[in-house]
Amino acid sequence: MRMKGVGSAAICLALLAALYFADTDTWYPWIKSAHLVAVISWMAGLLYLPRLFVYHTMEAPGSPASETFKIMEKRLLRYIMAPAMIATWLFGLWLAWRGFAFGGGWLHAKTAAVGGLTAVHVYLGHAVGNFAADASPRSTRHWRIVNEIPTLLMIAIVVLVVVKPF
Ligand code: HEM
Repeated sequence: MRMKGVGSAAICLALLAALYFADTDTWYPWIKSAHLVAVISWMAGLLYLPRLFVYHTMEAPGSPASETFKIMEKRLLRYIMAPAMIATWLFGLWLAWRGFAFGGGWLHAKTAAVGGLTAVHVYLGHAVGNFAADASPRSTRHWRIVNEIPTLLMIAIVVLVVVKPF
């Protein structure tokens, strides 16, 4: 477990070093492509996980369906959403640094909105832990409402970065 953590930290450091020394002109569109692939993967999870919670809430704790949902939720969070979120931040911050020197109202507003998405991610992560312990007091209505938050943030983020209104 500890070796895994050291390995992940080493990969992140190597990636950061490669990004630091990268040649801006030729790398920019490639990093933007990688950013978008990471964004799509992260958003898929942020939109799908609350929907899984809606169906999971309808199942009796300990039932075969409930146990299957636990595995699906844990794998989605750990193997898709967490790496995709880290990659989105790394590539996004690199683009903001090399392309815009961290300047621009739209960029600051976008980063704040991505902070909101990250908070939703953390909240959903806690919920995965609660569902795993069969302690999930929230209603299906609650998860349907939570499902709308990443949708609204995503619309704001895309308009901010494409239109750059301020
Ligand atoms: C802190 C995290 C993030 C930062 C700092 C960041 C920053 C950036 C920057 C600087 C660009 C390049 C803009 C350009 O070249 O005109 C970009 C592109 C883009 N980002 Fe992000 N981003 C982040 C997260 C996200 C998220 C979560 C989404 C979607 C939900 C997103 C969607 C996009 C899109 C669609 C583009 C392409 C825009 C275009 O080429 O017109 N980004 N991002």
